[in-house]
Amino acid sequence: MNDMTAQNLRSAFGGESQAHMRYRVWGKKAESEGFPNVARLFRAISYAEEVHATNHFRAMKDVKGDFSVTSGAGFGLGPTSENLQGAIDGENYEVGQMYPAFKAVAEMQGEKQALISIRYAYEAEKTHADLFAKAKDAVDQEKDYEIGDIQVCDICGYTVEGDAPDKCPICGAKADRFTAFK
Ligand code: FE2
Ligand code: FE2
Ligand code: FE2
Repeated sequence: MNDMTAQNLRSAFGGESQAHMRYRVWGKKAESEGFPNVARLFRAISYAEEVHATNHFRAMKDVKGDFSVTSGAGFGLGPTSENLQGAIDGENYEVGQMYPAFKAVAEMQGEKQALISIRYAYEAEKTHADLFAKAKDAVDQEKDYEIGDIQVCDICGYTVEGDAPDKCPICGAKADRFTAFK
């Protein structure tokens, strides 16, 4: 793998890994503030970020050794409304800046496996930004987010309310490859 794509994927792996943990922490905070559905949304999306980190790591299976990794990552543990804003900002940064730039480099370098893991994450983050924004609207009215079952695609991290779709709109996976957060 070309070094610039590998460096970008290592950074994306770092960012996704930290988002995975950050959402777990923020989920526990939401639970303690009496927003169980917001907590469940954080858990579901935390799982989706684990999927992204895993995909990036696997795409770099031949990139071995120790590296210093620089990743953009949000910090701070505040009230849930503030944490949700942090989540929205992070997802929007990935969709608006990070993944488009990483995709452009991977295209230029002809990195097929990297392009798949980047596309999966890029498309799934859009669903995350949208769900977090709706959750924040509810919390800002001092209500829990009224959301049914949340389904996460094990292959690409696509996240959607309701039943698992017959076919994932991002990666084409069948319904049995979805994990439900009920
Ligand atoms: Fe992600
Ligand atoms: Fe995300
Ligand atoms: Fe998928």
